[in-house]
Amino acid sequence: MSAWLITGGAGFIGANFVRMAAATDAELVVLDALTYAGNVANLADLIDGGRVTFVRGDIRDDELVQQLFTRYRFDRVAHFAAESHVDRSILGPRPFIHTNVEGTLVLLEAARAAWASDAQDKLFLHVSTDEVFGSLEPDDPAFTEASPYRPSSPYSASKAAADHLARAWHHTFGLPVVVSNCSNNYGPLQFPEKLIPLMILNAIDGRELPVYGDGRQVRDWLHVEDHCRALMLLLNRGRPGQTYVIGGDCERANIDIVRRICAEVDRLAGRPAGTSAALVRHVTDRPGHDRRYAMNAARMKAEFGWQPHHSLNDSLAAVVRWYHDHRAWADAIRSGAYLSYYEQQYGSR
Ligand code: NAD
Ligand code: TYD
Repeated sequence: MSAWLITGGAGFIGANFVRMAAATDAELVVLDALTYAGNVANLADLIDGGRVTFVRGDIRDDELVQQLFTRYRFDRVAHFAAESHVDRSILGPRPFIHTNVEGTLVLLEAARAAWASDAQDKLFLHVSTDEVFGSLEPDDPAFTEASPYRPSSPYSASKAAADHLARAWHHTFGLPVVVSNCSNNYGPLQFPEKLIPLMILNAIDGRELPVYGDGRQVRDWLHVEDHCRALMLLLNRGRPGQTYVIGGDCERANIDIVRRICAEVDRLAGRPAGTSAALVRHVTDRPGHDRRYAMNAARMKAEFGWQPHHSLNDSLAAVVRWYHDHRAWADAIRSGAYLSYYEQQYGSR
């Protein structure tokens, strides 16, 4: 039987992935440190039902990671664990280097040791981001697998460093590594500091909606289920040594997304149109803010016939409703760490 190590499986994308993987017959072991962004409640039913083995631990813990490889004989690693929030990386970059770079090193080394005698039918999937490619001008073509690395935030620099390690471990040691670079995800279970859940919850509560700068920054949005389907394909059929760009072919300016969220919240709450939009407040821009990301996922389409099933236009109402209906989930994770971060980032509004 196949045995998968899933790091960061209690976070947003990791938990959505674990929930999808639970439908396979693979043995699933989740390793997660449960930082402020990790929430074991995202997997509680699967852990309680015995479908998932949950290990609370740090990916930088060499001994623990090696023990897990010895005990479970993983043939797949899906590596999600990371410090993932750009704004936090600007407030304090060090944890990003520790987790994203050193943690990835520990996992690559453990896989190399465990698979030294037989790397056949093994795969290490390193989950990364479009942000490693830097920022596009308005008329530039979308990023592809051939785009040069040009990270501009501490977060993207740390992810770029980790990507380089993963590629080097393939090149030098023959480790069967696949790297995926995906655009911005949206959907259920996203930590409520990120743009879409933050705006939904603030609009529901009648709190200000802090839009950085002019709000014309463009992101390429992909539903988390579509991302996870792509990752499932890569984990089973990705070609070792290959990089895959994943995106939603859905470029939107932040302010347009915020306005759409406002309209959905007003509709859902039965408020007059325009009520939530009046909460928009343009705040100081993020330092070094990347202006535009866009992804060309032609390779995913050509090799696997993958394409997004969700469109943002059709899915946003359901996503707004999900956060509205899972209020207790959101409140439970708006912890002390969340509140002190919020105060530091936006002032105590
Ligand atoms: P997240 O912040 O929601 O979750 C990260 C998870 O990693 C949390 O459960 C946290 O507890 C865990 N973690 C952090 N440090 C750890 C450590 N040292 N040891 C063990 N566990 C640790 O992040 P996410 O949005 O789910 O992103 C998952 C991955 O996907 C990241 O690698 C990120 O770079 C990448 N990615 C995210 C997006 C996006 O839009 N969110 C897009 C492309 C790629
Ligand atoms: P975010 O969700 O942090 O993802 P990333 O920075 O990794 O793309 O932010 C998405 C976009 O929304 C980004 O351009 C920054 C912007 N943004 C705001 O305008 N206001 C906010 O309060 C947040 C959290 C983000």
